[in-house]
Amino acid sequence: MTLAIIGGTGLTKIDDLNIVDQQNLHTPYGTPSAPFQIAELNGQTIVFLARHGNPHRIPPHKINYRANIWGLKQLGVREIIAVAAVGGISAAMGPAHIAIPDQIIDYSYGRDHTFFADDLEHVTHIDFTLPYATHLRERIILAAEQSGIEISHNATYGCTQGPRLETSAEIKRLAQDGCDLVGMTGMPEAALAKELELAYANISVVANWGAGIVSGEITMAEIERNLETGMNKAIKLLTATISL
Ligand code: HPA
Repeated sequence: MTLAIIGGTGLTKIDDLNIVDQQNLHTPYGTPSAPFQIAELNGQTIVFLARHGNPHRIPPHKINYRANIWGLKQLGVREIIAVAAVGGISAAMGPAHIAIPDQIIDYSYGRDHTFFADDLEHVTHIDFTLPYATHLRERIILAAEQSGIEISHNATYGCTQGPRLETSAEIKRLAQDGCDLVGMTGMPEAALAKELELAYANISVVANWGAGIVSGEITMAEIERNLETGMNKAIKLLTATISL
C-alpha cells in the first residue's frame, strides 16, 4: 500500500474501488478532508482520499492540505497521484482533455503551505525546480500510451485562490505567464508532498475553457458534463498506471 490517489472535483469516489478499510486519522495539523480509504483497484491495494471531503463540501482555500499529506505519510504512502479539475488555457487543453503537468505557478495565498513553519531547529528550503516526480509522471504517460488514452505530456498549471473562477484578464495574464491550465488545488499540495519526500504527480482533467477564451459564461452544468467524460478517462488512466 504505497500509492495514494487524491480525488478532486468530479472524483469523490471511484466505483471500481473495493474498499477494505477506512482510517480516520488526526494529525498535528488537524483533521484531513475525509477518512482515508484503503482499497483495492485492479488487484493493487491503494489509499484513496477525497480532497474536498465526501460528500464534496470543502472549498479549495479551506482544504487542510497539511493534514491530508501528513496523514498519507503516516499510512506509509510513498507515491501520490493527485487528480484535479482544471480550466484549459492553451489551445490543446479543450474540455475533457487530460494533461500531466510538469510545472506549476502558485498564485494562491493565505494557505498553510509548509510543514517548516514553527519550532524549527533549522530552516529548510526544499528544491522545487521540478515540482512533480519524474518517474511517476513517466509511469502515467506510459500507461496512457499503452491504453490508447490521449493526453498532453507536459503542461504548466497555474494555481489560483478561488473559489470564484477567474476574470478574462486574469486568464490572459496566466497565458502570458506560460500557464496552460488553471486550477485551485495544485498548491500547496505539491510542495507539501515534496517537503515530506513523497513522490507526487498530477492528472489534470479539463472541465471548461478558462474565462474569456470562448464567449459566454462558464456554467456548472458545462463543468459537470465535461468532468463526467474526463474523469472516466482519468479513472482508466489511474487503473492502467497502478498495474504498471
Ligand atoms: N479556473 C480555476 N479552477 C478551475 C477551473 C477554472 O476555470 N475549472 C475547474 N477548476
